[in-house]
Amino acid sequence: GTVIHSLSPSDLEINENAVVVVNVATGKIVLMERKVDKLNEFLSGLSLLENKQYNVNVLKKDQFILPGFIDTHAHAPQFSYAATGMDLPLLDWLDTYTFPKEAEYAESEHAQNVYSKVVDRFLSCGTTTCSWFATIHLEASKILTDVIEEKGQRAYIGKVNMDQNSPDYYIEKTESSVSDTRTFIEYVQAKNNELLTPIITPRFAISCTSPLLKALGDLAKEYQVPIQSHLCENVAEIEFTQSLFPNSVNYTAVYDDHGLLNDKTIMAHCVHMTEDELKLIKEREAGVSHCPNSNFNLQSGVADIRHYLDLDIKCSLGTDVAGGFATSILDAMRSAFTASNTIGILKSQYGNRSPKPYKALDAKELIYLATLGGAKVVGMEDKIGNFKVGKDFDALVVDASDNGPVRLFRHDGAWETLQKFLFTGDERCLSHVYVRGRRVAGWKQ
Ligand code: GUN
Ligand code: FE
Repeated sequence: GTVIHSLSPSDLEINENAVVVVNVATGKIVLMERKVDKLNEFLSGLSLLENKQYNVNVLKKDQFILPGFIDTHAHAPQFSYAATGMDLPLLDWLDTYTFPKEAEYAESEHAQNVYSKVVDRFLSCGTTTCSWFATIHLEASKILTDVIEEKGQRAYIGKVNMDQNSPDYYIEKTESSVSDTRTFIEYVQAKNNELLTPIITPRFAISCTSPLLKALGDLAKEYQVPIQSHLCENVAEIEFTQSLFPNSVNYTAVYDDHGLLNDKTIMAHCVHMTEDELKLIKEREAGVSHCPNSNFNLQSGVADIRHYLDLDIKCSLGTDVAGGFATSILDAMRSAFTASNTIGILKSQYGNRSPKPYKALDAKELIYLATLGGAKVVGMEDKIGNFKVGKDFDALVVDASDNGPVRLFRHDGAWETLQKFLFTGDERCLSHVYVRGRRVAGWKQ
């Protein structure tokens, strides 16, 4: 059937009549043939399939496969209040809504309930890989890990660290924050599950003392694990950070000065970045998680992803539930499109006119950010993000035919169908969702 994937931000390959062969035992793609005219002849000529049991799944005209979506920034505990309380800017929003809700995860039963619902929800939206923030609680973070393992998602999972500027009911001592993080890393690694990776997760510089940040940088190095946090989301946050860390030249440098900025780092938001900070991100090969839905809701600002791509900075998409109200990366793609157009509009409306019109992100680039771009940001470009031979089969079987939300007409080819799915589709179009060859969700029974 039709196989669609990105090779680069601007290069989206649409292969009609393609064949992808997956080894179900390993979950790996063992062959990808871009154009096959006679399927039966092709299959019978494949020595690869000799003496092997195999199933053939032929897609219909309005169906296609896409690589699984990658959400590089989401807060699992915040699902319990997503879509409520978006009337405040970041720091007040955290104090008023987020911290009281996250504190509830001291209770394991609550964690079990919300975490199984949020992981189900994300999988049904086609998010095959997610970089999750949990809470400061060790037990609840373990529960999130167990739930993800059982449901079969590929994930980075972080126990959150907070030892300052937090309410007394939701704060840690520096020492226990570090030792619980060590215990958590070892808990995840002991599972020996290739799909699960612990990630160092200082909430943001404001909520971590310098000794804690330093200890976390050391842990990341000792265990060779990735790092995630928030960066330059909101102007008040940036000013407060600079007052707390006067020895660092800027906010980005705070993380860098504590050993937390490297090629395994994911920084969410990056809305208000100076050129010096972008240069540092690029030099360290850190990745950006663009969370436009959240940036609009909390009135944080609009990140200029076109500029970051021009600088060859690794970029991806995040839902940032619950700053973002939507669980789907389809929504993140649409919001990223609106954000990019907003920058174009502001640039032409309020002066700042350059001879070249602003080039907003297009559909090909949105698909890239949701798949291969995400794979690069989580350091798994050799494993996921497209259908190259040797990668794991993390895939969505999309059905855009008339029984779902998408409407197609007689001249619609694969490219039109894809765009209609991107802008008008939803999880009802996802017949099957696979992670490493295992079906983990899907609308079809
Ligand atoms: N900065 C620090 N914590 C948070 C959070 O939970 N959500 C968002 N959007 N920004 C943050
Ligand atoms: Fe966030």
